[in-house]
Amino acid sequence: MEKTMIELIEETAAYIREKVGEMPDTAVILGTGLGDLVSKIEISAELEYKDIPNFPVSTVEGHSGKLIFGRLGGRYIMAMQGRFHYYEGYDMKQVTFPVRVMKALGVNTLFVSNAAGGMNKEFNVGDVMVITDHINLFPENPLRGRNDEKLGPRFPAMTEAYSQRLISMADEIAAADGIRLMHGVYVGTQGPTFETPAEYEYFRIIGGDAVGMSTVPEVIVANHAGMEVFGVSVITDLGGKDIKEVPTHEEVQKAAVKAQPVMTKIITEMVGRL
Ligand code: HPA
Repeated sequence: MEKTMIELIEETAAYIREKVGEMPDTAVILGTGLGDLVSKIEISAELEYKDIPNFPVSTVEGHSGKLIFGRLGGRYIMAMQGRFHYYEGYDMKQVTFPVRVMKALGVNTLFVSNAAGGMNKEFNVGDVMVITDHINLFPENPLRGRNDEKLGPRFPAMTEAYSQRLISMADEIAAADGIRLMHGVYVGTQGPTFETPAEYEYFRIIGGDAVGMSTVPEVIVANHAGMEVFGVSVITDLGGKDIKEVPTHEEVQKAAVKAQPVMTKIITEMVGRL
């Protein structure tokens, strides 16, 4: 008989517990070009995704990414270096499976990061934006299908999908360090196309400040599971009806690499204060 979702989660969690031992209550998902944070972690254990039972098998990227365990800012955490994107062909249950496993391991605070295109006219390339809310434009919700109450409620509230407490903490850190920290609404789309000028404009008009191809599925599942979430976008390109420059993947990666020290600093300090 096919295993249930809970059985799959428990099997994976048991493997990780056995391999790693101590389990954290805090996790960080690192987005495209935002792996620098790893260099700040005193790593005590690493697991490659390809060795973790039930983890999605990487098809596109060539390398599979890893789970990292260690101390960041004095706190024991786990980090996902590399995530699963819907545009790669994973289904929503696969994209969000690691978040389910984190919860089973005892994680109750989740940090998510991503590279995003900016629509807000105040934004510059290289800005870091705290995600205050999101608009889900993915074609499917990760909670679609039968709901197991053991994982969370059938109709979860999303009124504070991003913790106000953690947003305030980030603001305090930014103010103390003189960091320009933007706030905004993240629009999550399936990709893999970047937006047309009209689409950037449309996303701005409906209330978006930045757009990207990740994060929303994981944040929905984290909220379903009752986790406290903090999200941050690094603005790697700008879009709108008057902007003719075309973002390329290389530019996005370069801009992410350049802006990531600010993101790394904020997350590291926040983790230390939890
Ligand atoms: N659009 C969608 N996803 C992105 C972008 C963008 O402009 N930049 C980085 N990820």
